[in-house]
Amino acid sequence: MKASPRWPQVAVLVLSLGVLALFSQSLSRSPQYQPANSQKFVSARDSFDLIRRAATIPPTQQNPNIDPPVPIISLSSDYISNITASKTQSSRRALNSNGAEEGFGLCKIVPPPSCAYGGGTTNGRTIGYYQASNTYNRVCNKISPSQIITSNYTHLYFAFASLDPSSYAVTPANSQDVPLYKQFTALKNSKLQTWIAIGGFDFSDPGTSSFTTWSNLTSTSSNRAKFISSLQSFMSQYGFQGVDLDWEYPSTPERGGQRADM
Ligand SMILES: *[C@@H]1O[C@H](CO)[C@@H](O)[C@H](O)[C@H]1NC(C)=O
Ligand SMILES: *[C@@H]1O[C@H](CO)[C@@H](O)[C@H](O)[C@H]1NC(C)=O
Ligand SMILES: *[C@@H]1O[C@H](CO)[C@@H](O)[C@H](O)[C@H]1NC(C)=O
Repeated sequence: MKASPRWPQVAVLVLSLGVLALFSQSLSRSPQYQPANSQKFVSARDSFDLIRRAATIPPTQQNPNIDPPVPIISLSSDYISNITASKTQSSRRALNSNGAEEGFGLCKIVPPPSCAYGGGTTNGRTIGYYQASNTYNRVCNKISPSQIITSNYTHLYFAFASLDPSSYAVTPANSQDVPLYKQFTALKNSKLQTWIAIGGFDFSDPGTSSFTTWSNLTSTSSNRAKFISSLQSFMSQYGFQGVDLDWEYPSTPERGGQRADM
């Protein structure tokens, strides 16, 4: 009896070894795809697209000319969301030579500025604005409310909450801010108050739906009443002790204001 030929099995084995060899070769040619050093990714902007494609596109749809090999090993969802966050930023801002987004400073600890501490120019108030969006927009040095060193402040302002342009209700600027509110107001003590700041510069940017919202809100007593009532509920729900109306700027037509504002 003739032994049946084993060529098909051999061919499969040879093919598999070939694929394995090709695969390990392309892996070794592509060290930038390995998530060992996140700083390296941050400064290599082009890697974002490749990594995100690899992380999100099924292997069958990958383009062999630009996509790295399939098993982009174990990119954690945490890692991918960090990359996504930095990509979102970098589409608006260039990265600087330190690998941080332009306008967000450095990925370094820098000493705080000193400005007339105890000089009596602020009626004894030392106010800090906490920029909540740092927790989802920044790549590095994210600061959650519980990490704020509060010792030198009399007031901390949570920046920012938003306003509904038609109902004048106080609303979160981003849904990811909501879990931070109580963490922030939990910082208050006998020497420190925690306030909500509403609006901010971007809120009155031309072309936004909120461009004239401050002006509309303040123009009638019934609009003001709607705002005040919503503000009271918002503050008591989350434990804020005061409000900073950050309107930039009243009476400035380029920023949605009008003469009647003042
Ligand atoms: C994502 O960012 C957070 C906050 O900066 C950091 O703690 C975490 O280690 C990062 N995750 C990865 C996988 O790089
Ligand atoms: C608080 O202010 C004092 C006096 O200016 C300064 O020496 C100290 O370093 C400050 N503390 C913090 C945590 O910034
Ligand atoms: C807000 O004010 C602008 C400018 O006065 C006006 O054109 C617009 O109709 C107002 N919007 C609302 C919702 O009242």
